[in-house]
Amino acid sequence: MFQCPITPSRIKEVAQKFVKILLKPKNTELVAPRDTNLLQFLQSKDIPVGNACGGMGLCASCKVSVLKNEKNISRPNDQEMGLKDRNHLQKNERISCQCRVLGDIEITTNYW
Ligand code: FES
Repeated sequence: MFQCPITPSRIKEVAQKFVKILLKPKNTELVAPRDTNLLQFLQSKDIPVGNACGGMGLCASCKVSVLKNEKNISRPNDQEMGLKDRNHLQKNERISCQCRVLGDIEITTNYW
């Protein structure tokens, strides 16, 4: 009798290394490595995101709105906090080049 070498615990272990990023309003679902940089990952998938400063954390053009599970994004660092203050961003708006995705999230922009 054939026995699959991939155990349920191995499947769970591998699944925990990835997260889902749902892009609204198109409902595009992406699977990303956990702890990935949000802007860099979106760019790698040819998702258009503003990035006037090239991800240096200076322009705020890469902001995205987090619709669900903001807790699954790394806490804002000092660079992001300063940008959010200067640009009067809402609490759920995040500077994607400064964010690491730690779990499943749902995000949008006003140009998707
Ligand atoms: S690309 Fe400029 S702040 Fe993120």
